[in-house]
Amino acid sequence: MSTSDGPAKKTIKDAAHETAVEPDTEGKIQKQDKGSGGSIILFFIFGVFASLILGWIIFPKLLYVKKKQPIDFNHAFHITQVDNGCESCHFFREDGTFSGVPKLDQCIDCHEEIQGVDRNEIKFVEDYVSKYRQVPWLIYSKQPNCVFFSHAAHIKGARMDCVTCHGHIGESTSLKVYEQNRITGYSRDIWGKNIAGFKKNPWDRMKMDDCAECHQRDAADIEKTNIKSPEHRYIDNIIKVFSPSSLSLEKGDSVQTQKDACFVCHK
Ligand code: HEC
Ligand code: HEC
Ligand code: HEC
Ligand code: HEC
Ligand code: HEC
Repeated sequence: MSTSDGPAKKTIKDAAHETAVEPDTEGKIQKQDKGSGGSIILFFIFGVFASLILGWIIFPKLLYVKKKQPIDFNHAFHITQVDNGCESCHFFREDGTFSGVPKLDQCIDCHEEIQGVDRNEIKFVEDYVSKYRQVPWLIYSKQPNCVFFSHAAHIKGARMDCVTCHGHIGESTSLKVYEQNRITGYSRDIWGKNIAGFKKNPWDRMKMDDCAECHQRDAADIEKTNIKSPEHRYIDNIIKVFSPSSLSLEKGDSVQTQKDACFVCHK
């Protein structure tokens, strides 16, 4: 009987007090219930969008500091001035090591004195050449110190083009802004523009996976043609480490050789 007690009491109360207060609050409570369900969903949708925008757009922007190169440099123009193409400035030394970014000595022959009216050239001659100070170029492709990379293996050995890994810097008329990761201190060119890791061009990013992906592809070609030199054995080791199931284990394989695969690219 207790269930019918409530409503019964209410009608008595209503009649007695003659007020519209009670039914009104009841109506409000019901509306609020429906309304809060809707706003929870709205709040959820808003939350999803907010975190997407935060994670995919704002965070990647905040993560990088923009830095300008000390002076601008026009590659396209300089190619017309030198005799030996890219090698005039980026060459291999006698011992097979790569010269990398050029030193002041490679510029001085032409820039001992200011030659024209270009603001960048005047700054270059006044601030660096005349004081014999090396230009502190920011290096877009700079890898962490633990990574070993050899240009000789790729350019002389595998005959690869600079564009494959660097894009079209060699044909550019000015240097792009350098972006440095606030947390790791690495260049933007390592993680790439896209935080999800999508890339259109092979040079868009150069993380460990990107090096390994190409080494693996190279190894697949070797498998197809069935030509396997001792130098290519290390690639097998890389594949074994990154996806052990893709290669069957051979006689003599050990955990030690798998471990060694890391030291192809790590010092
Ligand atoms: C007259 C000298 C000169 C010539 C010739 C030259 N470069 Fe450069 N290059 C430079 C200088 C100076 C920089 C330093 C700017 C910087 O830090 O990126 C540079 C930087 C680069 C970089 C960027 C390295 C990095 O990660 O920061 C690449 C890639 C490059 N050059 C490729 C080429 C290619 C390809 C050619 C031939 C088409 C070429 N260069 C010809 C002087 C030269
Ligand atoms: C073969 C001769 C030659 C060499 C080598 C050379 N330059 Fe130049 N460079 C020129 C000439 C010519 C100009 C045009 C001068 C002008 O109009 O101001 C120029 C212009 C410039 C300018 C202004 C235009 C621009 O690029 O934004 C800069 C900066 C510059 N050079 C830097 C360098 C640096 C750094 C090196 C060494 C890595 C170098 N140059 C090596 C001949 C050379
Ligand atoms: C297989 C990919 C690959 C190819 C091909 C390649 N590079 Fe690089 N390059 C790199 C990587 C990775 C680094 C960074 C190395 C490091 O930080 O230890 C680099 C660094 C550089 C640097 C800066 C070096 C420094 O620290 O002073 C220059 C300049 C450069 N490359 C020019 C070239 C030129 C010119 C060519 C073509 C002749 C070329 N690279 C081809 C991957 C490549
Ligand atoms: C687009 C393809 C490609 C990319 C990207 C690439 N490599 Fe390579 N790498 C090669 C090829 C091809 C060889 C030569 C294989 C050979 O000679 O056996 C090679 C050889 C090497 C070697 C020499 C190994 C030896 O035993 O002499 C090292 C070290 C190396 N790569 C490190 C790296 C690192 C580190 C990166 C990333 C920063 C990288 N590579 C990116 C294709 C690539
Ligand atoms: C094909 C070349 C290559 C091989 C093989 C390789 N690495 Fe790397 N590794 C890199 C490059 C390039 C980076 C720097 C870019 C990055 O952080 O992805 C890196 C970064 C790392 C880092 C992060 C270090 C830092 O300072 O950010 C760790 C840890 C690491 N590697 C461990 C390993 C281990 C363990 C193996 C063996 C299973 C291995 N790597 C094999 C190329 C390689």
